[in-house]
Amino acid sequence: MCMFEFIQTSHSNDIRRMSFEYDCDFMNSIDLINNIEQIYSDYKIPINLRNHMTTAANLSKTIIDNWSGQQINKDNIILSLLLHDLGNIVKFDLETETGLKLIDPIDLKDIDGLKQIRKEFIEKYDDDDHIVTNKILDELKVNERVKKIVKKHVFNNNEDTLKSLDWDVKIAAYSDQRIGPYGILSLEDRFNELKKRYANRDHARVNNSKIDLFIDCAFKIEKQIFANTKIKPEDIK
Ligand SMILES: [Fe+2]
Repeated sequence: MCMFEFIQTSHSNDIRRMSFEYDCDFMNSIDLINNIEQIYSDYKIPINLRNHMTTAANLSKTIIDNWSGQQINKDNIILSLLLHDLGNIVKFDLETETGLKLIDPIDLKDIDGLKQIRKEFIEKYDDDDHIVTNKILDELKVNERVKKIVKKHVFNNNEDTLKSLDWDVKIAAYSDQRIGPYGILSLEDRFNELKKRYANRDHARVNNSKIDLFIDCAFKIEKQIFANTKIKPEDIK
């Protein structure tokens, strides 16, 4: 097993990064899950994002614990959800009332600090959240399977997810798509919330012309998943 350590760059305000032994190709998913608090802390992940990712991971665990379908990889699904939005701060709206409403009161006390972190992320990685998340996944040396789940689970890939036989991706997609800014929602409420929140941001993914098709696929993925569990969508609250 490869060991890893956390180091801090010379400037205390810099985003921390992790270093690994050179002979380690990728990290064991369980080791990363067990160190998730340290990872969030090293990457200065805002509290609302931590809550979103841990709630999605917990939702997937409920499905996994009640799963009776084909073989799935529990650790890879849970880790994917714990890491899937690591780069989201680059698209945070920290200027308007609507955006600030989503920030946890503790982070809100140092809004300039949060803006600085966003600036550092954009400078160091990119201003596209998916690119940022991918780069961090590489830094963390997550395995290729987790990287694939993170890449494929997004709602604008729902058409392929619906047709696919990859249950890890289906469960990750569904688990993420049930989580709103304040916790678990029905799929319908979740997509309505997304449309409303990004109504004035033309380039947001939710404003894709195929969004209603993606939503329709989300409901079909829900049916596929719950045909393989002992619980119903309404049991997840
Ligand atoms: Fe998410």
